[in-house]
Amino acid sequence: MKKFVNNHQLASLFPRDFIWGAATASYQIEGATHEDGRGTSIWDTFAATPGKVYLGHNGDVADDHYHRMPQDVELMSGLGLDAYRFSVAWPRILPQGRGEVNQPGLDFYDRLVDTLLAKGITPFATLYHWDLPQILEDAGGWTNRETAYAFADYAEIVARRLGDRVAGWITLNEPWCSAYLGYGNGAHAPGIQNRQAALDASHHLLLAHGLAVPRIRSVIAPEKQVGITLNVYPVYAEDERPETLRDVALADAFSNRWFLDPLFKGHYTENFFADMGLNAPPIQNDDLATISVPIDFLGINLYSRHLVRGSEQKPLADAVVGVSPVPEACYTDMAWEIYPTGLKDMLVRLHKDYPSIKALYVTENGAAFSDSWDGKSEVVSDPRRVTFLQEYITAAGEAIQAGAPLKGYFVWSLMDNYEWAEGYRKRFGVVFVDYTSQKRIPKESVLWYSSLIKEHHTSN
Ligand code: NOJ
Repeated sequence: MKKFVNNHQLASLFPRDFIWGAATASYQIEGATHEDGRGTSIWDTFAATPGKVYLGHNGDVADDHYHRMPQDVELMSGLGLDAYRFSVAWPRILPQGRGEVNQPGLDFYDRLVDTLLAKGITPFATLYHWDLPQILEDAGGWTNRETAYAFADYAEIVARRLGDRVAGWITLNEPWCSAYLGYGNGAHAPGIQNRQAALDASHHLLLAHGLAVPRIRSVIAPEKQVGITLNVYPVYAEDERPETLRDVALADAFSNRWFLDPLFKGHYTENFFADMGLNAPPIQNDDLATISVPIDFLGINLYSRHLVRGSEQKPLADAVVGVSPVPEACYTDMAWEIYPTGLKDMLVRLHKDYPSIKALYVTENGAAFSDSWDGKSEVVSDPRRVTFLQEYITAAGEAIQAGAPLKGYFVWSLMDNYEWAEGYRKRFGVVFVDYTSQKRIPKESVLWYSSLIKEHHTSN
């Protein structure tokens, strides 16, 4: 598929106030894990556990962003970004998970927000991007209902400090991953393999979101917005056989509706727990009403799609519900199929199936490719990422034309960083990071992205 025509035409698909940004997350870029009173997170523990992360890589240094924040914001400014999505590390704010606040932790994000605003960049903050304080995990983590209450307290503390300046508040990033990869198949911290624990954790994550929303709203400026970010996977049928269509529905429930239905319909998907072969999670009286509290936007992280061929595999058996490789398709370095139409289809479907969603953001979209730098060039060549972004952004523009209320797009990621269990070997950045020197080198994709943003600003 090669749909992209030129920047001028592409920019014209987006409304004047559309926001172009880039995203990162605390543990993936900050480093400085032992500084300024930060507590231990589940990712520190997981990365230190032999066999869990590629070559035992950890976030101790990462992109050293904690020390290089002003230069990194300068970089964003040079690129002409409208917005920047970062995450706040809970263990920097509350090293014990709850209770005493660590001021130096809050000060760091306060400086970040002011530095962004001084450059005209709109801050979007994610409150939980997977770095749970270890001390809360020791008490059961997300399988313990208490963690939801602790999260709401933490959210209010951060919102009270930054709420006059942060434009968009994202409670949780990809709770599906926190629940399923963290407690179901164990690919992510804390590395537990128990599907019932994953389902229970998912309920407490949703509850954490629902409890936090009014607490955040109570302390932020009234025009600031609150939402959540979900990872979504459009699911397609490879044929029309009844077993294929049934498996598509199951895969969609598992990949998307698990979180969408309670958040935007106020109930779990029919038969979901039985289809998972599990018991209902520990739902208490008003939980679903708490969870479905109205929010201002849904953020989606979308990278690929699932293509299902009925009964080829059990669609709920694992996180991977796709089928064997699609012969004519292209794949990223993560072995994720490149399927730009999926972004358009998903945005349009969310608008249609969930009318209570008022606004949508693509809070992440991007690709890992095996980029390399020769040690002297001023630009790193990444032609496949240029094409990837052109095609996905075209699909986003088409979704807007089809009526989806899409307000902004954040590329994942601003710069190469710690790709969780894959360590540093997968590069998602639009800026290359040389981990030896910590030099940042623009890739062709960021030069293209920057030119699109400029085109959009000048032609509107
Ligand atoms: C989603 C996650 O939010 C982010 O942390 C991760 O690096 C990207 N996907 C790529 O896998």
